[in-house]
Amino acid sequence: MNSGVIPYEIIRLKETTSTNDYAKKLGRQGANHGTVVMAESQSAGKGRLGRKFYSQSGQGVFMSIILKPDIDLLRVSQLTIVAAMAVRNALKKCTGEAYAIKWPNDIVCNGKKLCGILTEMITEQGAIKCVVVGIGINVRNGQFDDELKELATSLKLCTGRDYDIEDVAKAVLESFFAHYQEYMDSKDLKYMKSEYNEALVHNGRKIVVNGNNYVQEGICAGMDETGALLVKTDKGIERIISGEVSVRGVYGYV
Ligand code: BTN
Repeated sequence: MNSGVIPYEIIRLKETTSTNDYAKKLGRQGANHGTVVMAESQSAGKGRLGRKFYSQSGQGVFMSIILKPDIDLLRVSQLTIVAAMAVRNALKKCTGEAYAIKWPNDIVCNGKKLCGILTEMITEQGAIKCVVVGIGINVRNGQFDDELKELATSLKLCTGRDYDIEDVAKAVLESFFAHYQEYMDSKDLKYMKSEYNEALVHNGRKIVVNGNNYVQEGICAGMDETGALLVKTDKGIERIISGEVSVRGVYGYV
């Protein structure tokens, strides 16, 4: 266990398929709240919506946090937003730069993705057994392959400086557990809604949201305290709870 106020213990791996999968296995076996699985590389890093997360050895923070929150199943997605805000604040502290957020949980720099977050959950008899919050941050990458170079960036590419992976991971964990505590006190996102909306890359812009079986167009009106994205349409305000947001007519990452 960490000796300070931070309730985490870190399991360090040289390589694994996915720290989320490793953490879920530990979670099923009854791992403690606050256990963190961190790997130098992942051979099958996972992203949201079934995508891959590029995880080259020694280039980024690849870690998964096991949590045992006393919350309703429906609130689990809010933990992803808590993590996004925590990562953004930690990266600001480490680099002195402010970063944007793409709803719900990507951290963005110069219109490209710097960090992705994948939250998964294990249930037992309809209740939460544990939640795994997986965080992937591109830190030291000097370049990306052709298929990613228009979409992804790193702290190095954003700031022109190298950062120590351990320092970044520690700053993120400290920030995450402070945010987690604050969230658990209220179990909603009111405490950070205005800060989140200031960082929201699409706020006030014309967007299109592609969901599983719908497409919604309108003006982005920010996130509400439940974590839903508000979209102003001709018919009024629509609340979006999942989907992929992009600027209407622009087919890049943002
Ligand atoms: C996304 O961008 O869609 C989410 C990416 C999440 C990547 C992290 S890296 C650590 C953890 N392990 C995984 O397999 N995925 C998450």
